Amino acid sequence: MSTMSGLKAWIGPSILNADLSSLATESQKLLNSGADYLHLDVMDGHFVPNLTFGHPMVSCLRKAVPVALFDMHMMVSEPKRWIQPMADAGANQYTFHLEALNGDNEVNDCIRHIREAGMRAGVALKPNTPVQSVFPFVEDIDCVLVMTVEPGFGGQKFMSNMMSKVEALRQRYAKLDIEVDGGVGLNTIGECADAGANWIVSGTAVVNAPLPQQVIRQMREVVNEAIQRAQLER
Ligand code: DX5
Ligand code: ZN
Repeated sequence: MSTMSGLKAWIGPSILNADLSSLATESQKLLNSGADYLHLDVMDGHFVPNLTFGHPMVSCLRKAVPVALFDMHMMVSEPKRWIQPMADAGANQYTFHLEALNGDNEVNDCIRHIREAGMRAGVALKPNTPVQSVFPFVEDIDCVLVMTVEPGFGGQKFMSNMMSKVEALRQRYAKLDIEVDGGVGLNTIGECADAGANWIVSGTAVVNAPLPQQVIRQMREVVNEAIQRAQLER
């Protein structure tokens, strides 16, 4: 019997470095290229030193792209504040940063509200946050996002030393969706897959590729092969 059954690769391009003036067209292009979901980076200029967009834009994008899974990466100081507006805008997964909240009660409260709003719940960890800090919440969430760069900007260098966090999570939680984000592309996907990540965010490596569909397909193959290998080893 395999405890990894049900796990599969999900490739979610980040549109941060796409042409944001044509967000709907760019998003549709990525979905047509085989993206499994869209990773939408929300930055408030406070939790991170950059500013992107909020729920009004997500709501417009949802009208233009009715069926894709919207994965909200909430790099914001007040994650609880935007749960209902994002759910109403059509978001499917809401991932907030552990560092934005104080104490277990606030984290549990945020998770409960996300669930009540009908979304999948995710918790993200900045590079300096130890992986153990998410353990108390894993049973109650759908996804842990391990940042492989400092959040704030696309196009940064992948931090290989974050893979020990992914390994620690995969060892403890065989069925958990583990997402990696930052500097992931064809050169770094192997490390992510071997460590046990199965939700793969990729920004510049997909958006700037001459053939995004090839990059997406190859990354999915590498991750699915690693999942199969891990199943055989059990
Ligand atoms: C960084 C964002 C990432 C970023 C990924 O703060 O969370 O989603 O856009 O882009 P690349 O893959 O270019 O690092
Ligand atoms: Zn992100």
